[in-house]
Amino acid sequence: MYRNTTCGELRLSDVNKTVTLAGWVQRIRKMGGMTFVDLRDRYGITQLAFNQEVNKDVFEQANRLGREFVVQATGVVEERYSKNSNLPTGDIEINVTELHVLNEAVTPPFTIEDESDGGDDLRMKYRYLDLRRQCVRKNLELRHKMAFEVRRYLDEQGFLEVETPVLVNSTPEGARDFVVPSRMNPGQFYALPQSPQILKQLLMVAGFDRYFQIVKCFRDEDLRADRQPEFTQIDCEMSFVEQEDILNMFEGMSRHLFKVIKGIDLPKLPRMTWADAMKYYGSDKPDTRFGMRFVELMDVLKGYGFSVFDNAAYIGGICAQGAASYTRKQLDQLTEFVKRPQIGAKGLVYARVEADGTVKSSVDKFYTQDVLQQLKAAMQAEPGDLILIICDDDDEMKGRKKLCELRLEMGNQLGLRDRNKYSCLWVIDFPMYEWSDEEQRLMAMHHPFTSPKPEDIPLLDTNPAAVRANAYDMVINGVEVGGGSIRIHDAKLQQKVFEILGFTPEQAQRKFGFLMNAFKFGAPPHGGLAYGLDRFVSLFAGLDSIRDCIAFPKNNQGRDVMLGAPGIIDQEQLDELQIKVDLKD
Ligand code: AMO
Repeated sequence: MYRNTTCGELRLSDVNKTVTLAGWVQRIRKMGGMTFVDLRDRYGITQLAFNQEVNKDVFEQANRLGREFVVQATGVVEERYSKNSNLPTGDIEINVTELHVLNEAVTPPFTIEDESDGGDDLRMKYRYLDLRRQCVRKNLELRHKMAFEVRRYLDEQGFLEVETPVLVNSTPEGARDFVVPSRMNPGQFYALPQSPQILKQLLMVAGFDRYFQIVKCFRDEDLRADRQPEFTQIDCEMSFVEQEDILNMFEGMSRHLFKVIKGIDLPKLPRMTWADAMKYYGSDKPDTRFGMRFVELMDVLKGYGFSVFDNAAYIGGICAQGAASYTRKQLDQLTEFVKRPQIGAKGLVYARVEADGTVKSSVDKFYTQDVLQQLKAAMQAEPGDLILIICDDDDEMKGRKKLCELRLEMGNQLGLRDRNKYSCLWVIDFPMYEWSDEEQRLMAMHHPFTSPKPEDIPLLDTNPAAVRANAYDMVINGVEVGGGSIRIHDAKLQQKVFEILGFTPEQAQRKFGFLMNAFKFGAPPHGGLAYGLDRFVSLFAGLDSIRDCIAFPKNNQGRDVMLGAPGIIDQEQLDELQIKVDLKD
């Protein structure tokens, strides 16, 4: 038997027990005739004490230990002389009488402690050492717990977890596919699923009624803090449901997770239309932890000879409460911030509301105090507030997106984006289509299986860009954690939607013929959604990046630096697959 207790368990009530522990040497402190070793395992840290007077051999053995050696220690639990209130086991130590080195270790390339000296690249290269750190491991423990609670909730609601294949055909979620060559079918490729979307719809045709799967999805797209090329969805679908049924069911799931994991009672989630989200926050995933809603100022500020505004297609402002004290330097920095190419604003206009209620702006020479007072009223600004205004020459959406960046930055600067505070909502009524400049055509905003709102179906013929979809996203703290839609279950309507997306009937038949065919065999009305598990966990853990809740993530170049993937493969393997690779040095 290697051990009869773990490094996280022993307390004062265990004093005088003889125990055996096993784990890794975290730290060694030599203090004359005493040596102390912090022994670590998954469950915690326990102090081992070695006394030269009591047991010289074991004491000398302890002095030969190195960091990360794997050891087994037997001894008696004793009350500690100087207790460590930071550790649950900090009241006791083990007076060791027997020590076995189970494995030696070379010195690790970085310190395995919460505050590590290892940079990102090094820690990723030695991820198995990084994962020994408690602060990293606890994110994976949280992930396990959340996945477990998701399964518990969905099982109780009658959902069946069904596995769908990983070697499939292209699934249209808007990213590029990862493809896998087929040896047995030379020149042909599987695609890894961007989501199990079509398969879960087929499960509804098959009568499964309520499906879910915690499933890996693969998307070859540019990486960001909240995107990985392979990530995990909590993928769900239900039959005989309307949007309302889905929103209620999954609000329930989120409520369950918030309650059992965070101890938070989630209120009924507000719903915001996509149009309002764009109008008031400039984003389809508004961070509603704080206000600073946009106010449109075209009526207030146009026509006074300030050409920048006079020629603008959009003028919008936000009111930063209490920020009138911003210095010139801070305002210049904000101006630089919005002028960065990523945001691309031409400039920033600001107006301070003074203690006496007068308004002083950066464009005072164009506006009388009267007009500035109208601005103050429109912004509902009070003395001490700072009004920040952005405009755009081209179109209102571009202006709103710029103002959105500024709003989020102000939220950061004013400490309004507290990680421990949660603000969740549904964004509903997304447009069916969005125009793609790149492709010069309408694209599905969600995916091509999303159903239009019944009342908007006539618009498909006349003004498809105005059609709203029965699609919804769950947004928490400005992060899209999940999204889905009611699906089209009628082959004719599906055909029409494909047409608007620019598929000829032949192309649609070739790509999705099996789905449209399946619909002819009695498809129930159905809908669903998928959560990004990684994003959900990282929100609960208060992380900046989803990487930190993934055991073996990819870096920004999509590489696994530990495994060295992707890598080149042997010529023999390439020959077998009949793939020619022009390998240039
Ligand atoms: P969607 O594409 O919106 O919908 O994806 C659902 C959720 O998955 C998460 N997500 C990601 N997480 C990490 N890295 C990525 N690259 C990534 N891409 C998406 C997000 C997102 O909300 N089949 C539909 C769902 C449905 O209609 O039922 C779908 O995949 O949290």
